[in-house]
Amino acid sequence: MDSDITFSIIKPDAVSKGYTGQILTRITGSGFTIAALRMVRLTRQQAEEFYYVHRERGFYRGLVEFMSSGPVIVMVLRKADAVDEFRKLIGSTDPATADRGTIRAEFATDVQKNAVHGADSPENARREASFFFPAIEIF
Ligand code: CMP
Repeated sequence: MDSDITFSIIKPDAVSKGYTGQILTRITGSGFTIAALRMVRLTRQQAEEFYYVHRERGFYRGLVEFMSSGPVIVMVLRKADAVDEFRKLIGSTDPATADRGTIRAEFATDVQKNAVHGADSPENARREASFFFPAIEIF
């Protein structure tokens, strides 16, 4: 069911610091199963397109630069109520205000280099998943 999937990215900061394994362990240990996963380096154009909704924001240019600066892990995750459950697991956007025990509180650097992305609605989860994966590659 649609509400059972979310889309996530382990961002360049977390990948380059070697946190990929620990973050995946936290995700699967919280009851998510991996429906699709790939390591990829976004082109600047792909990062612009992925974050197009933020194009008017002051942080957009820096975000595009950062997200295309190194490899990331893109993945589709499955669990009941996946979008909300995943957002609870990662914590708020700014790690300075993220609850203790959340992935961002533990692994993020700052509000931009915040270790992971999680879709904010089931509609966006579907749109973001299809940005990287054809339906046949989502298990
Ligand atoms: P993400 O969940 O991927 O969604 C949009 C991203 O923009 C966010 O995580 C951060 O990486 C970045 N972002 C959001 N707010 C700010 C901000 N105030 N300054 C810099 N980057 C931000």
